[in-house]
Amino acid sequence: MIRKMFMGMDHVGVAVKNLDEAINVYRDLLGFKLLRIYESIENKVKVAVLSTGGETKIELLEPIGSDSPVAKFLEKRGEGIHHIAVKVDNIEETLEEFKGKGVMLVDEKPRIGAEGKKVAFIHPKSVKGVLLELVAE
Ligand code: CO
Repeated sequence: MIRKMFMGMDHVGVAVKNLDEAINVYRDLLGFKLLRIYESIENKVKVAVLSTGGETKIELLEPIGSDSPVAKFLEKRGEGIHHIAVKVDNIEETLEEFKGKGVMLVDEKPRIGAEGKKVAFIHPKSVKGVLLELVAE
């Protein structure tokens, strides 16, 4: 019996059409602190990471190219929450457990996310419409 442990929210990912414009809103209008901006070529997104003052961050995601998964999300659903990311103590075991329960996985094996941590996505069809990201603690 695998006993996974959730370790808190890591971040909320927000799909946006234009990162500069979104930073104007989140940092300049609302007052969230901008921690860093980077491009993830592998995931085809430009990312701005903002602090909420606690452990949970906000990630603004602008697609790079029309074949980016975030571009497809924007087409279908418009701007808004794209995924939530939860920390787990053992990502491999969590994926094994979910797989054994028939949960639809986007990633069968963890991959290295842009922040250098192991991550894996769970399909929204198994999570009531929410794309769930697991982040290794
Ligand atoms: Co994420």
